[in-house]
Amino acid sequence: VSVPGVATVEAVVEAGGAGAGRVMTRVEERMVELVSTHGELLARHGGETITAGGKRLRPLLVCIAAGVPVEESDALVRAAVAVELVHAATLVHDDVIDGADLRRGKPTVVASGGRLLALATGDLLFSRAFAELAAGSEIEPIRVLSAAASALAAGELMQRDDAWNSAVGQERYLERCRLKTGVLFRAACELGALAGGVPIDALGRFGEGIGVAFQLLDDVLDVTGPAARTGKPRGTDLLDGTLTLPLIEARKRDPQLAELDLRAVETAEQAAAVCDRIEASGALDFARDHALAVVADAKGCLPELLSDAQRSALELVADGVVERYS
Ligand code: IPE
Ligand code: IPE
Ligand code: MG
Ligand code: MG
Repeated sequence: VSVPGVATVEAVVEAGGAGAGRVMTRVEERMVELVSTHGELLARHGGETITAGGKRLRPLLVCIAAGVPVEESDALVRAAVAVELVHAATLVHDDVIDGADLRRGKPTVVASGGRLLALATGDLLFSRAFAELAAGSEIEPIRVLSAAASALAAGELMQRDDAWNSAVGQERYLERCRLKTGVLFRAACELGALAGGVPIDALGRFGEGIGVAFQLLDDVLDVTGPAARTGKPRGTDLLDGTLTLPLIEARKRDPQLAELDLRAVETAEQAAAVCDRIEASGALDFARDHALAVVADAKGCLPELLSDAQRSALELVADGVVERYS
């Protein structure tokens, strides 16, 4: 389980009213239907991905960005399904790129089926996402989601480009977080806002901020573990050469870390030792504080004209993202 916890998700669904519960149920049903009716490949590997226990944070944001209480509509269900399918596709591909064996506590598609199957499954999930949006009559949601999917790809490429490069600093790291995670949270909020007739720029900025904070905290959790809590092995980022804010900051504070050749970190035990050093440097608190500040800014982006109910539901998500772990 990553941040925010399932308890937050449940609280937000409750805040969204009966409509939110109905939309979220329809989103589940529709995703299962989509992956089961487009060939055996998608049914098996896509099905495992969809039912592996994701938190559904992005569909939830689509719902509450539209308005609270949530009004059930086909357009809202389509948008929520499409965002979650892009998210799922990205994770399947991300695990190929990162060489990850474990996600949500279960074997990844690449671990169980190999690279080719994982690439094809991700591609199929992407394709179903856009087909789902195209089933509606609006062009704007398609523009929003395709921009997000492009940004995501750019973010993943940037991260690979930057691998092992100890010259990567905070600014570039934050831009990467924006591209690979912030922009899809932005898209979720914009799609909801479009459906609900709420100002899309302001909600989009809110979404992007909490997305960036979410990635920051995910990167903190990669250092703290434990795997039983995160569903992913500890120190994965280190082992694949990904410099995240905890390490970037820790290198400024600890000369021994600054001199460390990242390529020399090869085993889980070595990675754990470096994680301990990062923790001892105080860099994790620095990264958490940064995430808190980003979330506070994001909340400041929420427009005046929102109803109190909608504002507090959105703030509930924002607070869930910064829930402290110690
Ligand atoms: C994981 O996202 C990838 C990141 C952006 C850090 P989530 O933590 O939202 O993934 P699931 O769907 O709930 O597993
Ligand atoms: C997040 O990147 C996945 C994307 C947004 C593409 P990470 O590689 O940090 O996420 P996890 O740790 O695999 O979930
Ligand atoms: Mg990864
Ligand atoms: Mg990655």
